[in-house]
Amino acid sequence: MVITGASSGIGAATAVACAKVGMDIVLSARRREKLEDVAGQVRALGRRAVVVVCDVDEDHEVAALFEEAMAAMGRVDVVFANAGYGLFASVLDTTDAEHRALFETNYFGTVRCLQCAVPVLRSTPDGLKHLLICSSAASELGVPMFGPYAATKAAQDAIAGAMRAELAHEGFWVTSIHPVGTATEFFDHAGRAEGPSLVFQTAEQVAGAILKAIRRPRAEVWPKPLARWAMGLATVWPGLTAWILRREARNIRRQQEGSKKN
Ligand SMILES: NC(=O)c1ccc[n+]([C@@H]2O[C@H](COP(=O)([O-])OP(=O)(O)OC[C@H]3O[C@@H](n4cnc5c(N)ncnc54)[C@H](OP(=O)(O)O)[C@@H]3O)[C@@H](O)[C@H]2O)c1
Repeated sequence: MVITGASSGIGAATAVACAKVGMDIVLSARRREKLEDVAGQVRALGRRAVVVVCDVDEDHEVAALFEEAMAAMGRVDVVFANAGYGLFASVLDTTDAEHRALFETNYFGTVRCLQCAVPVLRSTPDGLKHLLICSSAASELGVPMFGPYAATKAAQDAIAGAMRAELAHEGFWVTSIHPVGTATEFFDHAGRAEGPSLVFQTAEQVAGAILKAIRRPRAEVWPKPLARWAMGLATVWPGLTAWILRREARNIRRQQEGSKKN
């Protein structure tokens, strides 16, 4: 299995969960030290771990990741395009550079990874041919202060759906993952101090749901099933959803005004 964004959070937890059931893992991200730490945990479980430093923003680094994975392992069955980050800012306050950088990593990083992964999975004899994409529950909703981020997650979801249909005849599975707020480094990088109030699950719980989907492939994984139902209701009642999101935006505004005064 090849995992991007394996140096922390959901990617690292998935690597460990998959190693526990006997999978060898190629771990990639930008921070080598953190990757080596996760690799140590995989090896302690008796499985092989290969570390490849790779920035998903760079075409040649993503291509090299899959070349190194094949050279080291001889086959790739599952690819988890997970690398990504959040940005806590209103749409108007998000600069053009921030907007583009977010899409470069979350959306184009995923596309790069999938485009390199498919030929490698095709060339693996009797392989599982499974692509997993870490989208978000935010793929379904324009969450206030996470608008540009949610847009990248909706874009990932759109290509997951298209590829699921386009590659089905070759025996591929394409699964999008839709976590709600998860206790990882995500909120530190996103710049939201109040992150923990949005955290509803652990990375290990998300990893458990991903492992289930590798064993029994499905279109989407919602580690908190209630979130799936909530998003369904949000689609059916857009007026109610808009009212709830307006209140959330107002609460955030008040918090920000309060912290400016203090
Ligand atoms: N935590 C949540 O509440 C939540 C909810 C829904 C969806 N998600 C999604 O879950 C995925 C994993 O996030 P997480 O929650 O586990 O947060 P995390 O602990 O911050 O992990 C993010 C991972 O992505 C890697 N990454 C970031 N930019 C990269 C780049 N340009 N190239 C390669 N790797 C890069 C980071 O590694 P390096 O810094 O070492 O490169 C890290 O391993 C993301 O796609 C995120 O959008 C998270």
